[in-house]
Amino acid sequence: MEIKKVAVIGGGLMGRQIALNSAIYPYDVNIFDLKPEVREAVQKWEDEYLAGRIAKGRMSEEQVAGIKSRFHIIDTMAEAVKDADLVIEAVVERKDVKTAVFQELSGLVREDTILATNSSYMVSSTFKDVVKNPSRLLNMHYFNPALVMKLVEVCRGEHTADEVVDTVYAFAEATGKTPVRVEKEIDGFLANRILSAIYGEARKLVDEGYCTYQDLDKACENGLGHPMGPFRLNDLTGVDLTFDIMNRRYQETGVKPRGYDLYKQMVDEGRLGRKSGKGFYDYEKK
Ligand code: NAI
Repeated sequence: MEIKKVAVIGGGLMGRQIALNSAIYPYDVNIFDLKPEVREAVQKWEDEYLAGRIAKGRMSEEQVAGIKSRFHIIDTMAEAVKDADLVIEAVVERKDVKTAVFQELSGLVREDTILATNSSYMVSSTFKDVVKNPSRLLNMHYFNPALVMKLVEVCRGEHTADEVVDTVYAFAEATGKTPVRVEKEIDGFLANRILSAIYGEARKLVDEGYCTYQDLDKACENGLGHPMGPFRLNDLTGVDLTFDIMNRRYQETGVKPRGYDLYKQMVDEGRLGRKSGKGFYDYEKK
């Protein structure tokens, strides 16, 4: 199967970048977000990003005009997905919200449309009972910033058809990414499981008073050559996203994750990381 038309659901941090990356490569893309203010913000972000590429000499005016003509911000989900060959879901990391989105999507798309979720931790079988054709359902996990990071984890479930995995793998490659196959469903896939082990140990060391989070970051950056320590990286990915994941683990296991109270306090205070200008570190708010 060939992908011609892509739809992205959710225009937040990830959705807008996944959509724009697809338009750059050059697919025709519709993007939908439930909130009108997010749809407006996507338009502003797209204009500024592309103007910046021209200013830096990375793209020509002509290229940018082409990208803009392929990138459509749409007001309803039905309109956004009606001709889509591939729909990539990138709404908030909440099972109830994603389940409702997949249920609705399944009633709107063609029988053979591929439905992918960009969830950080939820495997696609979580949604297989609410879609009409689970053989077209899988995980397609991008990394932040999705315009830059190469990795896309393509994770199949037992319900996913081979052809769907191959098609999505080929699409990721065609859009400049380096896909990897995850052959069996596992929570968190590959890279985030490794990261999770690092986070767990980092939070333990800080929680138990062995060091500050700043020094822990310095140790990883200067001793291990990591481009960012775990706390600085968490500011980039969003403290609220980590807290959502912690909450889910807490509900599922009854065991309070390490650092839970600190993350709760940060979310309550709006210290969400770079996007709010403050997280573990302070940033100039754009
Ligand atoms: P975000 O909070 O920036 O964006 C989520 C967007 O979904 C919001 O704009 C919200 O208005 C929209 N939304 C909520 N319900 C909706 C609905 N029913 N229909 C349409 N839009 C709806 O979140 P972010 O960071 O972009 O994450 C999105 C997904 O990508 C999550 O599943 C997350 O786990 C995953 N992800 C996030 C990464 C990150 O570093 N932030 C990295 C890789 C995956």
